[in-house]
Amino acid sequence: MYNTNNSYFSNSLLHWYDSNSRDLPWRKTNDLYKIWISEVMLQQTRVDTVVPYYLRWVEKYKSIKSVAKADDLKLLKLWEGLGYYSRCRNFHKACKIIVNDYSGEIPSDYQKFRLLPGVGDYTASAVFSIGLKQTYAAIDGNVRRVMARVLRIKNITNRNKKRINNTLIKWMDPERPGDINQALMDLANSICRVDHAHCSICPIDEICMAEKMPIPESYPIKVKKKVIPHKDIVTGIIWRGKKFLITKRSENALLRGLWELPGGEFESNETPIEALRRKIKEECDIDINIEKEVGYVKHAYSHFKITQTLFQCQTQESVKSINKEYRWITPIEVNNYPFPKSNHKLFTILNSDGWNV
Ligand code: ADE
Repeated sequence: MYNTNNSYFSNSLLHWYDSNSRDLPWRKTNDLYKIWISEVMLQQTRVDTVVPYYLRWVEKYKSIKSVAKADDLKLLKLWEGLGYYSRCRNFHKACKIIVNDYSGEIPSDYQKFRLLPGVGDYTASAVFSIGLKQTYAAIDGNVRRVMARVLRIKNITNRNKKRINNTLIKWMDPERPGDINQALMDLANSICRVDHAHCSICPIDEICMAEKMPIPESYPIKVKKKVIPHKDIVTGIIWRGKKFLITKRSENALLRGLWELPGGEFESNETPIEALRRKIKEECDIDINIEKEVGYVKHAYSHFKITQTLFQCQTQESVKSINKEYRWITPIEVNNYPFPKSNHKLFTILNSDGWNV
């Protein structure tokens, strides 16, 4: 018999974790910076995929300062293939802020850390619990599933999310909050799986209310998420003298007939820069010098979302072969052509940062 759910939960989970935890490289460090970058990479990405990226990153960039000093393009190159490139850009921005505003030390105040670009409640809770042993619950979709089963919660409403968070904090061993969070992640991954809960080998089956039900897997109810695909688009503002290149979208494409800065979607096995060079060569048959990243914008269409990144480029060449209409225009002539909304968002960045390199 156990006195309270509190001690049963923590003791059983930690006992299990001590001999079943996954051997992962970010679990062998106390360095907050390394824990943080691991958690950023782990967002929406599988553990097995992240491991080699994490190892390469921390080998090359040993501190926040080294990341802050790094060239954006070099960081993106290291991120190549991991997807969701805004995670990398936000991490870079956050490191620069830490160097400028916090003398290079990660703020030890949760609210200050939470305000950095790309840091949400999940990341802040994971970093503070694992790295600083502070009592925060790092609840991603997997941990939420485990706790919903423990508490026999059917619907993940906002109220139930709070209940899960409060319960977890109440039950957490204050000596080992990071281990509790990571034990739940491992439990979700190996035992309490979506379609099969494997209750007979679960270390916390005694307090699990779903385990007492005929179908534990029916907790929580699976909501059919409408997945909106996301596309990463690279775009160039390609200067030849004082003019840059625009092309007209073909008649059978979405946004047909609108003009745009050239570029396109890129494959997961290439960097944005490689993709841009390839696209411009394929479409316009010109070689370009890619000089720097201007910025990126996000835009949602009805059936997909895009993140569109813009690079400043130069060329000496004229367009040799192209199967679209094209023009070389000055910034002022932008007003003479219809552009998609996402291009206008890019023009807004250029208007505030300056148009040419
Ligand atoms: N997913 C997110 N954070 C994790 C961690 N620290 N260990 C394993 N999986 C994770």
